[in-house]
Amino acid sequence: MRILFVASECFPLIKTGGLADVVGALPLALAQLDCDVRVLVPAYPGLLGKLHGFSEVAHYGELFGGPARLISGDTADGLHVLALDAPHLYDRPGNPYLGPDGRDWPDNIRRFAALSAIGASIGRFSVGGWKPDIVHCHDWQTGLVPAYLMAGEADGRPKTVFTIHNIAFQGNCGRTDFDTFGLPSSFYTPAGLEFYGQCSFLKSGLVFSDRLTTVSPTYARELRTPEYGMGLEGVLNDRSRFLSGIINGIDTTQWDPASDPHIAASFSAKKPLGKARCKLDLQEKMGLATDPDALVITVISRLTGQKGLDLLIAHIPDIIRRGGQIAVLGSGEPGLERAFNEAAAAHPGSVAVKIGYDEALSHVLQAGADAILVPSRFEPCGLTQLYALRYGTLPVVARTGGLADTVIDANDASIRSGTATGLQFAPVTVSGLGFAIERLFELFADKKNWKKIQARAMTHPVGWEDSAADYVALYTDLLV
Ligand code: ADP
Ligand code: GLC
Repeated sequence: MRILFVASECFPLIKTGGLADVVGALPLALAQLDCDVRVLVPAYPGLLGKLHGFSEVAHYGELFGGPARLISGDTADGLHVLALDAPHLYDRPGNPYLGPDGRDWPDNIRRFAALSAIGASIGRFSVGGWKPDIVHCHDWQTGLVPAYLMAGEADGRPKTVFTIHNIAFQGNCGRTDFDTFGLPSSFYTPAGLEFYGQCSFLKSGLVFSDRLTTVSPTYARELRTPEYGMGLEGVLNDRSRFLSGIINGIDTTQWDPASDPHIAASFSAKKPLGKARCKLDLQEKMGLATDPDALVITVISRLTGQKGLDLLIAHIPDIIRRGGQIAVLGSGEPGLERAFNEAAAAHPGSVAVKIGYDEALSHVLQAGADAILVPSRFEPCGLTQLYALRYGTLPVVARTGGLADTVIDANDASIRSGTATGLQFAPVTVSGLGFAIERLFELFADKKNWKKIQARAMTHPVGWEDSAADYVALYTDLLV
């Protein structure tokens, strides 16, 4: 089975969040199940340099305002990549979506319409003799792929799967932009990609794809409600027969405390001792007081409203009073960055904040912390709690989306039956989080149960095996 992934991010080539991790890891898991997967991504600066054995497989004289070519090559991990090299669209340093002023590039719509057009073209006409049976699109940046495919003849059209990683980002633009896409004007209707007087890339993906998935079963249900559907719940209810939730996994080779090159000492569920050394390393690297007994809570996150981290600010003094420490790695909204920086300045040695993006440090924090906090208001899947489970760092999570599906709350029953892996809380409010923090400190004081839960967390299956098999079943079903 040949599958083309189309996405705007792919680890280790370019990453701003979990989408990249999924697009980088799932194809490798699918390859184990005899799928032939290639990943189409834009060739952002430096990306081609990370590919081995690359060759030009297609050339386009004019693609949305300039020439472009398609480069085929492999990552060190053996991921097959098709990089769309279009300097007028993608040769811009830094974050793939944001300009130097921190705002979206004004032509993002055009940049990702181009990616979609090429995704569809490979799907329909093949590239270098390779033609996919299925085009699997990820998030709004690829939402026009199914529209482009639908605009052509049914004969020779590959099947399409569209995965919603986050419905909050919809890629909406005006009619005048739509008119530049070369799609039939009959698509610009409420039954098509028109969305409250605009053209929505995401809605296009939802209405024109053969199958829809999202990244957890709970989010698949939540998406169909006004509270979570962000205006698209009606469309998703109409298409609910074609929508399913498949939980994300993680790359358990990249994220393995027994062999992680970024961490101070290796450890595992059977040999957990190295985690104490990792905790000291975290404290040293972050400038926290080196105290083996402090409860170290970490946060590794985009700092946006979605992630609910504003709720933590009010609890910082209480956490410190209880003898806890906080280590934050993240970036995002200036107001939140400022609030965390101020907390760090007010509580040196107890609160440490690193604003920015640092992949290696995220491993150090996962390995050294006792708990990770993920108080998201909504969370399609969430990956940091999965890394945390594997590193024996107990997740304290909001009961929503994939967080609800991956962490087993340490209540009386689950502690007794030995199934608990972390803490869940609801409602996602300041007081809801306050109760969770209280429970966390109580559990941390109960060393016997804490160790049991930690060991259980570390053996909880977080790899891609089961979910990759679910995708194969979905693809197979589409092709019969
Ligand atoms: P989202 O994709 O919504 O941001 P996920 O939990 O699915 O949330 O994925 C976030 C990914 O980005 C994880 O791999 C996490 O470790 C990583 N990450 C987030 N912020 C940072 C940061 N500041 N530095 C390094 N890695 C980060
Ligand atoms: C999105 C979601 C996150 C999910 C990730 C990968 O960024 O916000 O919950 O884990 O995509 O699917």
